Amino acid sequence: MTEFKKGIFFNNISINIFNKIYLPLYIYDLKKIINNIYNIKKINFICFFSVKSNDNIFLLKIIKNTINKFDVVSIGEIEKIILINNKKSKIIFSGSGKSITELLISINLKIFCINVESIQELFKLFFLCKKYKKKINVMFRINPNIDALTQKKISTGNIYDKFGICLLNIKQIYILNKIIKNFINIIGYDFHIGSQITKLKPLKKLIFTIKILLNKKKYNLLDIGGGLGVDYFFYKKKINIKNYFFSINKILNKYNIKNKILIELGRYFFCNSCLILSKVNYLKYNKSHNLVILNLGMNDLIRPSLYNSFHKIESINIGNNFKKFFGPICESSDKYNNDDKIKVKNNSLIFFFSTGSYCKVLSSNYNSKKKIFEIIFYKNKIKIIYSKEKIFNLIKNYD
Ligand code: LLP
Repeated sequence: MTEFKKGIFFNNISINIFNKIYLPLYIYDLKKIINNIYNIKKINFICFFSVKSNDNIFLLKIIKNTINKFDVVSIGEIEKIILINNKKSKIIFSGSGKSITELLISINLKIFCINVESIQELFKLFFLCKKYKKKINVMFRINPNIDALTQKKISTGNIYDKFGICLLNIKQIYILNKIIKNFINIIGYDFHIGSQITKLKPLKKLIFTIKILLNKKKYNLLDIGGGLGVDYFFYKKKINIKNYFFSINKILNKYNIKNKILIELGRYFFCNSCLILSKVNYLKYNKSHNLVILNLGMNDLIRPSLYNSFHKIESINIGNNFKKFFGPICESSDKYNNDDKIKVKNNSLIFFFSTGSYCKVLSSNYNSKKKIFEIIFYKNKIKIIYSKEKIFNLIKNYD
């Protein structure tokens, strides 16, 4: 985004073209997305895109045309991929509560792999494969009891988290190995200890655990999950994907681990390539504190209310100073975290940064709000990649 005297421009296109009635809307920058994918392709690990972080069909097509590997957690996500890709993508199915239908469809579609999270799930899968005379690749998702040193609500690798097979139960898996091998092809161990990880220490611990497991039983692949953190605060010292995976590689080498490494990244792909453009609906001058009511609510951006997350807020910098920003939804928690005072006036445009991952996918129709536009920029062109929902969508399922 560049600021000029006569207005605000994205790649030379003035934001004035977004008539205020279209706001709020998500704005993606294709150039940044392509750059992120270029960085990912340079890593010498095999990367799967975690669809849960952003399942916009246009963006999924970009993934299809570049890395074409997807990590999914539901049949809905698989259906979306099939819709764009004629069954040709590599798919890993993760998730702690897969239904029988989901397992059966995955078996029939012969997806690349199912990451199994419990012994009961393994049994279900075995009986289905036996019944229908099919064979499927499986990785065991292990819960290594490691703190990812990230937000509690997005940690998944501690012993009391619901995810993965407890390390103490791993012996049972090795015994079952022999019984199930005609129908289940075990190809690797899988781990995902959390999201928005910014420190290497948890990964060091994880790789140490992996070494112990490999000493007990070897499989070809190691899926070390997703979790690479992004910089929501726009610090100068950015998290560098190249250095991060280079360091992980070094630790793997130190332990002489030579397996093929898979990663499942979500947030890194789109998070910092998107912002939400919204506007001020009301300014409230209270005796004790002044506040701003925006037209962007927790229905469109729930991360601050759900995880107490921070998204950098900016304005065009005209008007009076305000610090407290709220949405229009009828909930006290419909508010945003903001440290700085920001100059705003009535109808000011407001930018929320780093909104490309876990934002649109988590949006809802709360207060019967319609889901908002998503557009993408490339050079001097704009494309609508999601049109604002119509009222028909909200009422069509009532008989
Ligand atoms: N693999 C598995 C098994 C996962 O559960 C996740 C994310 C990923 C990969 C991708 O992780 P990433 O690279 O995006 O960190 N809604 C939360 C984040 C939840 C993450 C869920 N799992 C948020 O808004 O911060």
